[in-house]
Amino acid sequence: MIDKIKGLLKETEEFTVKTAEELENFRLKFLSKKGQISMLFNDFKSVPNEHKKLVGQEINKLKQFAQQKFDALNNSLEDDDTQTEGTDYTRPGEPIELGSRHPISLVRNEIIGIFARLGFTVAEGPEIEDDFHNFTALNFPPEHPARDMQDTFFIEKDPDILLRTHTSGTQVRYMENHKPPIRSIFPGRVFRNEAISARAHCIFHQVEGLFVAENVSFADLKQTLLYFAKEMFGEKTQIRLRPSYFPFTEPSAEMDVSCSICGGKGCNVCKYTGWLEILGCGMVDPNVLEKCGIDSEKYTGFAFGMGIERIAMLKYQIKDLRLYFENDVRFLRQFKSAY
Ligand code: DAH
Repeated sequence: MIDKIKGLLKETEEFTVKTAEELENFRLKFLSKKGQISMLFNDFKSVPNEHKKLVGQEINKLKQFAQQKFDALNNSLEDDDTQTEGTDYTRPGEPIELGSRHPISLVRNEIIGIFARLGFTVAEGPEIEDDFHNFTALNFPPEHPARDMQDTFFIEKDPDILLRTHTSGTQVRYMENHKPPIRSIFPGRVFRNEAISARAHCIFHQVEGLFVAENVSFADLKQTLLYFAKEMFGEKTQIRLRPSYFPFTEPSAEMDVSCSICGGKGCNVCKYTGWLEILGCGMVDPNVLEKCGIDSEKYTGFAFGMGIERIAMLKYQIKDLRLYFENDVRFLRQFKSAY
């Protein structure tokens, strides 16, 4: 056995390689699973116990030597610029990987596209707002719970300054600066003091809509939202308006769409109701129009506000809000679209 090991050691020492192919032969002969050194380990089992220590040491020495020689040869072959064998210069280049749009951007752009076809323009307001635009002008009474510290991020030094809790404040800003007819949507990021979970986040996105002109009616609101729902979720989609309350609209409603996943039959996404709530809406309260300098005797209007995360969740069946903010490429890579 010892002689055999010595013989192999000599063989490895004398082995010369000039090409990658020869190096591979070296590896196959000595270092691979079926190579000579592996075979020695098999034979080792039958070595009598009293010789095991010595024979074992010799085999290990051989193995180490062969491995070191392999590594050294491998490195020197890689460093050798003149070594061109095996390189195929006609191979096409590696394509540069294209990124994909974030699902929130995709859905926001899709919403903008749908309303643009109805003649709505797009505007944006500031994320850092004052109390007047976020609350007071929207008819929130001073004691309204939404002003509570639990919902709103206030700036400590000045409670008049806050991170906007919704995009409705942009309605006010827009009406202050534009005369009716107004037909606009206001997408943007909003902030609420909420614990982060699968169903809630302290940062999210909304799109606000506002239409103010002469003779705007609740029927116009309904028709606009029906068109939106069908464009967004498919031609078969139905809508349902439930009476609700918002300080800045009167009357107010919440809108459900028929569940696009089960077609309204009932499934675990719609909690077996066949309906999914997607937005709040209503006729702009005359008080709000007046606070913005618009004659509420002459003009009427409707408004609505929807959460982009919620719509993207339904569209792509995303089950956890946190995924939107983690930037895990395995998640983001799945969204490819023309928008
Ligand atoms: N601002 C409301 C919210 O964040 C959503 C909303 C409801 C907006 C009704 C509206 C509206 O414009 O008319 O929950």
